[in-house]
Amino acid sequence: MPALVLLGAQWGDEGKGKATDLLGGSVDYVVRYQGGNNAGHTVVVGDQKYALHLLPSGILSPGCTPVIGNGVVVDPAVLLSELSGLNARGIDTSKLLISGNAHLITPYHTTLDKVSERFLGKRKIGTTGRGIGPAYADKINRVGIRVQDIFDESILRQKVEAALDLKNQLLAKLYNRRAIAVEQVVEELLGYADQLRGFVADTTLILNDAIDDGQVVLFEGGQGTLLDVDHGTYPFVTSSNPTAGGACTGTGVGPTKINRVIGILKAYTTRVGAGPFPTELFDEDGDKLRTIGGERGVTTGRDRRCGWFDAVIARYATRVNGLTDFFLTKLDVLTGWERIPVCVAYEIDGKRVDELPYSQTDFHHAKPIYETLPGWSEDITQAKTFDQLPKNAQKYVQALEEMSGAPISAIGVGPGRDETIQINSFL
Ligand code: GDP
Ligand code: IMO
Ligand code: MG
Repeated sequence: MPALVLLGAQWGDEGKGKATDLLGGSVDYVVRYQGGNNAGHTVVVGDQKYALHLLPSGILSPGCTPVIGNGVVVDPAVLLSELSGLNARGIDTSKLLISGNAHLITPYHTTLDKVSERFLGKRKIGTTGRGIGPAYADKINRVGIRVQDIFDESILRQKVEAALDLKNQLLAKLYNRRAIAVEQVVEELLGYADQLRGFVADTTLILNDAIDDGQVVLFEGGQGTLLDVDHGTYPFVTSSNPTAGGACTGTGVGPTKINRVIGILKAYTTRVGAGPFPTELFDEDGDKLRTIGGERGVTTGRDRRCGWFDAVIARYATRVNGLTDFFLTKLDVLTGWERIPVCVAYEIDGKRVDELPYSQTDFHHAKPIYETLPGWSEDITQAKTFDQLPKNAQKYVQALEEMSGAPISAIGVGPGRDETIQINSFL
């Protein structure tokens, strides 16, 4: 089983960090393929809790080589502070590899992210304000700065000039901000060169060789399927491809080399930022999910919007990612509800719809059609096998599996590594 992708099946924060960390001990490489420090992955190891933003969650497993692929956008200041934070806690980060083709997030991207959100007013996306959209926009617009550029001062200066030419006009004339000096940016980026040089490598070559050698490579997605710029709830999305195809373009590993695609699926649904969310709850149940589930953003500290499980979305994730398995997380959070509604289809303008509508207007009008399943009250955090779950919890999992279109191969019953019921092995 040389290569597998692990990605979010909903709107992010499904528990990808925990799932990756769980596998980290058995894989040789863990690779981030898209996104940047908009991600917030919480990993709990014993009594230690880690919040990772840019680094792959495999960095916590000593035998594993963490890789930042070409599809990621890297804020060098965040990267260095995350590395030193881990070093201070005794984690060895020296094996990290970074693609020279990954693009950099610079302070002007972060500034533009914030001012453009303000400019959008009530139509804002609710971004994390980390410069993600503007950095990807520059990449596609061919005025981005790549990691490798900081090792060639003359190229760097030319590229920063090209990037700031139009932006300074925008900042000064449209957004009423001060223009950014080319030299200041060049100096700052050159200042990172010595600290980053040792990490930069031809990651595409290394990963392909590793797979050909029979080593195990795990691709770790940030965000989630419905935040994908192509397949998500556009324009309320992030600016990259968290879906399975992104693992190929974001690393230079071809689809024929990937054997398994695991969708991380929360036993209910959450979303941060703006955009449609059919099963969103505005009542006590929503507050209860938020409190018991600890649904507060790791990156921005914002409260997450909470709602019941949506099987239409899970089926969609199975389809657009070619999922082979699901890892169902946070089942323990649902303990204590007498009855648990699950959205099985939508009603749109008086008609039942079983698949995610491709039209944004229809999706904005979608009302959930619920089936209600019986709940359970027994504590499930100690369960180690499926049989040890209360009967109604078993039925809930089986019902979700039937509706979602792929086998549920693992179940999370708590945040810790060992609070997992493994049904089928991932490796
Ligand atoms: P990610 O962005 O997908 O990595 O998810 P986050 O880390 O942002 O949010 C998931 C949260 O749920 C974290 O606080 C995890 O520690 C926690 N978590 C993960 N799996 C489980 C689980 O099965 N049960 C409970 N109670 N918490 C979990
Ligand atoms: P993880 O990896 C949840 C959301 C933001 C906003 C939209 C665009 O922890 O699951 P961006 O800053 O990316 O331009 O914001 O995407 N968003 C996330 N929501 N989890 C994340 O990451 C997210 N990363 C971005 O809230 O709605
Ligand atoms: Mg998160």
